[in-house]
Amino acid sequence: MGAKAIVGLQWGDEGKGKITDFFSSQVDVVVRYQGGNNAGHTVVVNGKKYKFHLLPSGGLRGKKLVIGNGVVVNPSVLLDEIDMLSRHSKIDLMVSDRANVIMPYHIMLDGIDEERLKDKKIGTTKRGIGPCYADKIARLGIRMGELVDKELFKERLETIFLLKEKIFEAYGLHLDINEIFEEYADYGEKLKPYVDDTIYYLNSIIDEKEILFEGAQGFLLDIEYGTYPFVTSSNPVAGGISTGAGVNLRKVDAIIGVLKAYITRVGAGPMPTEEKGKIGEHLAEKGGEYGTTTGRKRRCGWLDLVAARYASMVNGIDALAITKLDVLDGLEKIKVCIGYEYEGRIYDGFPSMINILENVKPVYEELPGWEGARGKKRYEDLPFNARKYLNFISEWLDVPLTIISTGAGREDTITIQAD
Ligand code: GDP
Ligand code: IMO
Ligand code: MG
Repeated sequence: MGAKAIVGLQWGDEGKGKITDFFSSQVDVVVRYQGGNNAGHTVVVNGKKYKFHLLPSGGLRGKKLVIGNGVVVNPSVLLDEIDMLSRHSKIDLMVSDRANVIMPYHIMLDGIDEERLKDKKIGTTKRGIGPCYADKIARLGIRMGELVDKELFKERLETIFLLKEKIFEAYGLHLDINEIFEEYADYGEKLKPYVDDTIYYLNSIIDEKEILFEGAQGFLLDIEYGTYPFVTSSNPVAGGISTGAGVNLRKVDAIIGVLKAYITRVGAGPMPTEEKGKIGEHLAEKGGEYGTTTGRKRRCGWLDLVAARYASMVNGIDALAITKLDVLDGLEKIKVCIGYEYEGRIYDGFPSMINILENVKPVYEELPGWEGARGKKRYEDLPFNARKYLNFISEWLDVPLTIISTGAGREDTITIQAD
């Protein structure tokens, strides 16, 4: 039948979990294609919060869940999440045999590297994501298909240790290969029933069933397109579906970009519209901007349409889901960044170099604020100025609106039908 994709257009935490849960009701299968348990996606149903790190956020709708080949899997986290979800819903899960496994040394290295970088650190989630993807590219990864086969796993682990033992030593890591083997072989045993060739599976159903691809992180954290080196190590961009799920991108007939009505970032790196004073504080408190995965306070600022236009261009966004509109309730004036000023010139493109991005001055358009968007369920019921704000974004990006989110709950959602 067809496929849709949900991608974050900022630095993550745009509300992809809520939007994925919303669209999951209309599909048969929900797929993660990149990232790992650095993601934290929240779904709120009847006032209860559910947090997904690895399993697709379509889980609560009882849909078939797929973890694609482009994801890096921490097996212990996956088992915990399966356990959590099985208390609320039936589980029908398939994990790619090609997905790489996050090993304990990846997590340790992530922590050590960050410490060594001191004030130059990236501010990673310390979940071993970067080191795991680095090993994958260096051809030193372990795949799920190997983890679930004890003999293959042992052989692979021994080979990797042959090559990496010296590096581990240099890092002061004292790793007991037997201990790791025992612990991980046990995870492998437990996860075996879920591991399969997801590429053939997805391609076998794509013409008959509805598939939803759920991006993790956000476009500005993409290893290729983001604010390198302050990025994650995967491809959240919609094109990541091709490498991370093995599906022909032409089968994806709608790419929905999720945009928070303002912007946030966790960790270090440039953020032109960051508000360090009262406004930033206000957005953080009102928006509950504390990390779903690490609990860290998120940096907050005004909506950056230069970054959003760049994201929309590269992803090929068909429709926008704008979240957390309610958080802007009560502000007298709302600013939107529509350009960057740098060394006396105005730029409307997103600079590739962070030394420039760190020093640009945002050019703002000021729009009038409103009261009372919170909880609205129909577009017509939104305050006039809130609609004006939404239209400004949609026109500026030249992308239609499809969803407006006015609260964390499932019910606080406005759908806009295409003309
Ligand atoms: P994700 O990583 O993109 O899935 O986003 P997170 O779940 O990490 O962060 C988004 C946070 O905002 C979560 O706590 C959501 O429950 C919450 N949220 C989502 N949409 C809305 C909304 O429209 N209004 C408010 N107030 N909260 C929302
Ligand atoms: P979701 O899917 C926000 C950030 C980290 C850090 C950088 C690299 O919930 O939107 P990593 O651990 O990936 O090597 O960290 O990326 N980061 C996120 N920020 N939301 C996320 O996921 C993130 N996943 C990683 O804070 O700056
Ligand atoms: Mg998140």
